[in-house]
Amino acid sequence: MGKLYVCDHPLIQHKLTYIRDENTKTKDFRQLVDEVAMLMAYEITRDLPLEKVKVHTPVIEAECQVISGRMLGLIPILRAGLGMVDGILKLHPTAKVGHVGLYRDPETLQPVEYYVKLPTDVLERELIVIDPMLATGGSANMAIDVLKKRGCQQIKLMCLIAAPEGVKAVQEAHPDVDIYVAAVDDYLNDHGYIVPGLGDAGDRLFGTK
Ligand code: PRP
Ligand code: URA
Repeated sequence: MGKLYVCDHPLIQHKLTYIRDENTKTKDFRQLVDEVAMLMAYEITRDLPLEKVKVHTPVIEAECQVISGRMLGLIPILRAGLGMVDGILKLHPTAKVGHVGLYRDPETLQPVEYYVKLPTDVLERELIVIDPMLATGGSANMAIDVLKKRGCQQIKLMCLIAAPEGVKAVQEAHPDVDIYVAAVDDYLNDHGYIVPGLGDAGDRLFGTK
């Protein structure tokens, strides 16, 4: 079963509180999501392999370390996943970005695919699927399916807030995918919203409500 990591760093938890607050306006919401994504990127890449290299410091030749192995690919689920991309790119500027466009049908809560564009070398990259909200898990599972159908293997999932139902759904469908979140909330309400959650992540990021 995939592991669930809750990124409980005080800075992440502090900023998440203001992201949840209904009084936080679009500009600040966007900035806070960006900052939390950057802080979570630090946690999620903790296991990246290192290799030894030699560098000449102004004093002597020294043996140091750089990141080795696969390069990263970020896969935001449109729309709301876009709000987390720049924060991660601040720490990993060489990552390539692929997009999976899904929306959740408000009646059935089932995800509907409308766009997929991936880097040409996606199979050679370690991939992080990004979405602020993991509610029923339908969207994350479909995005991971999209990647696996194309042969991708090394995949992580990064969300701000998860419902227990969504975590269970992804762990059952994709036991090889580890999940990184800032919080696991209480439950999903009758409209498929995470409680207490933050409301509609896409609308709050883009000011569409
Ligand atoms: C939201 C959210 C996730 C999805 C989560 O997207 O950003 O993609 O719902 O719900 P699920 O786990 O039940 O699938 P939405 O469909 O509202 O689209 P948007 O990002 O375009 O607003
Ligand atoms: N999508 C959101 O944006 N918010 C939720 O609470 C659930 C799904």
